Amino acid sequence: MFAKEGLEGVVAARTTLSLIDGEKGRLSYRGYSIHDLAARSSFEEVVHLLWYGELPTAAQLAQTRADLASQRALHPDALEILRRFARDASPMDMLRTVVSALAIHDPDVHESTREANLRKGTRLTAQMPTIVAAHERLRKGKEPVAPDPRLDHAANFLFMLHGTAPEPIAARALDVAMILQLDHGLNASTFAARVTAGTLADLHAAVTSAIGSLKGPLHGGANYDVMVMLKAIDEVGRAAEHIRLELQQKKKIPGFGHRVYKTIDPRAVHLRELSEKLGVSMGQDKWYRMSAVIEKTCKELKNLYPNVDFYAASTYFLLGFDMDLFTPIFACSRAPGWIAHVIEQHTDNRLIRPLEEYIGPPERAYVSLDKRG
Ligand code: COA
Repeated sequence: MFAKEGLEGVVAARTTLSLIDGEKGRLSYRGYSIHDLAARSSFEEVVHLLWYGELPTAAQLAQTRADLASQRALHPDALEILRRFARDASPMDMLRTVVSALAIHDPDVHESTREANLRKGTRLTAQMPTIVAAHERLRKGKEPVAPDPRLDHAANFLFMLHGTAPEPIAARALDVAMILQLDHGLNASTFAARVTAGTLADLHAAVTSAIGSLKGPLHGGANYDVMVMLKAIDEVGRAAEHIRLELQQKKKIPGFGHRVYKTIDPRAVHLRELSEKLGVSMGQDKWYRMSAVIEKTCKELKNLYPNVDFYAASTYFLLGFDMDLFTPIFACSRAPGWIAHVIEQHTDNRLIRPLEEYIGPPERAYVSLDKRG
């Protein structure tokens, strides 16, 4: 039987990682509400929760932090690739390429036990922000900034990117945004990771697949498109009319709609708050106010709700990220989720191999070259 287009409604894996209730707008990681985690937790704590199944004790958290902080530096060959292609490659292509290249020197590359995947996962999670930050600096003619092991994951990323210690409000905003993007059921990139892992290919192969699929504008690429839209509108007073015209022409509004959520995406609630808080504290709440008008207009005209990407765009913009860094930063946030899914897939694997319905010509006789045309 043919599944609905886009595999809508198909259950294709069992997981203990995250639960989405699309009707009620709820999301939890291993049973903990995303609202509690966003308010009270840290990125490292939630990574531990996803990888080990429970919230860490203080000693376990210190260990997870130390493990991640100690693995941030890149192999010199990875830095060489970054230097070689810095000015030509987009940040997302660069991230995908260097993550793939990191497999070359990884001592565990051919091992897919849980322990080996955790070691590789720690290195990938630690190094992906270093790749993004180093590339960003190199393409602007600056030298990369070495990671600071005293800083937490999110704060260190801002430090490597901007070269100065971040304001606490900025570090916390990124920390929360990264928690919100850590895992999200069988979204397209996680599915890609699981399909690759399902062939018993290694973790680097699976994460490389996932980054490739996150790039598209229907998935992680939407946060970039949101900022393009906000900049094109430019004035709060023009937002409602812009949306009305776009919807009239049957265009998709980036950052709105979702396959699973039929109400507001619970992650958008927190990102909306972050966007407002940062905007007000920096005297730049125009993007938040414009976004709020767009949200109201989309709801009124087409009963559309914002998804995770909508308020992530203005939040990231206020954190000083160039627009084409938005999706790579999403990838850095989602990577531990992909890794947890790969571990889950490898633990109880069966090749993922669906069928297709053939709708081409019926079987026919081969025509030799001299009789064609
Ligand atoms: N703007 C305008 N209309 C939208 C919309 C949007 N962003 N998202 C969905 N819709 C409308 C569709 O036009 C369609 O309406 P119709 O029934 O009148 O034709 C209906 O809602 C269903 O949309 P559809 O594209 O079939 O849903 P989907 O489940 O296949 O797609 C998305 C989900 C996320 C790909 C889709 O909502 C989208 O393209 N959003 C914009 C990109 C985005 O923000 N992606 C990030 C997702 S986290």
